[in-house]
Amino acid sequence: MSLPQEKVTVPLVRAMKAQGRRIAMVTAYDYPTGRLVDEAGADIALVGDSLAMVVLGHETTLPVTVEEMLHHTRAVRRGVKRALLVADMPFGSYQGSVPEAVANAARFLKEAGADAVKVEGGRRVVEAVRQMVEHGIPVMGHLGLTPQSVRQYGGFKVQGRDEEERQALLEDAKALEEAGVFSIVLECIPAALAAEITASVRVPTIGIGAGPDCDGQVLVIHDMLGLSGDFKPRFVKRYADLGQLAREAISRYCQEVREGTFPTAEHAYS
Ligand code: KIV
Repeated sequence: MSLPQEKVTVPLVRAMKAQGRRIAMVTAYDYPTGRLVDEAGADIALVGDSLAMVVLGHETTLPVTVEEMLHHTRAVRRGVKRALLVADMPFGSYQGSVPEAVANAARFLKEAGADAVKVEGGRRVVEAVRQMVEHGIPVMGHLGLTPQSVRQYGGFKVQGRDEEERQALLEDAKALEEAGVFSIVLECIPAALAAEITASVRVPTIGIGAGPDCDGQVLVIHDMLGLSGDFKPRFVKRYADLGQLAREAISRYCQEVREGTFPTAEHAYS
């Protein structure tokens, strides 16, 4: 299958919805994952704050800092040529004053080479989003199960199941669109609600645990490649089990070192 060639830009992502082209987004956290995601033809590489959990070993996304996110975004930037590079703004970096939120967002474009930033939340963040967009910073929204609110939810739980939450999410999506986001991630909400939101906004929606009717999909690379241990929620599809392959390879290496069968003469310099 031939891979798409054109450089992905914010206007292209917007246009893909109108053209009925589905958007493939995958997370990346460093140079090798950035390269793999780009070479495989993903449209968007997301440096997610899931970095905190899948790379840094924290239990939630809350502890990751702006400096850590910038560091990893720079590394991904070196590997990504075609895909749009979006960086997550971490917890605490945009919930304070609007000028502080805009200044932090600008750092991702200026110091790390991101093409856009992503923020979680609806009406409560629209003023910050509006100002970022005003200042030339493209913003992706994120609604539904927004992991930075995990303490408020009391755990990672499906959102939007009752009528009040359904209405709130529809209004949040409209508010984000009006504030100028170029796309919206919908995480862990009922498929029917994701379809309703997708039909009600002109910007593309990108689902994760939100059913098949969003304009695009996103998965965390560690989950899709089997690198997240036993963690496998219903919405994850495991496309490979690299964790098992890696364990077997490392264990074979250890055994050969102990037996003295690696290295041999062919690995030695004369
Ligand atoms: O941090 C992340 O990886 C995300 C995606 C799951 C959308 O926000």
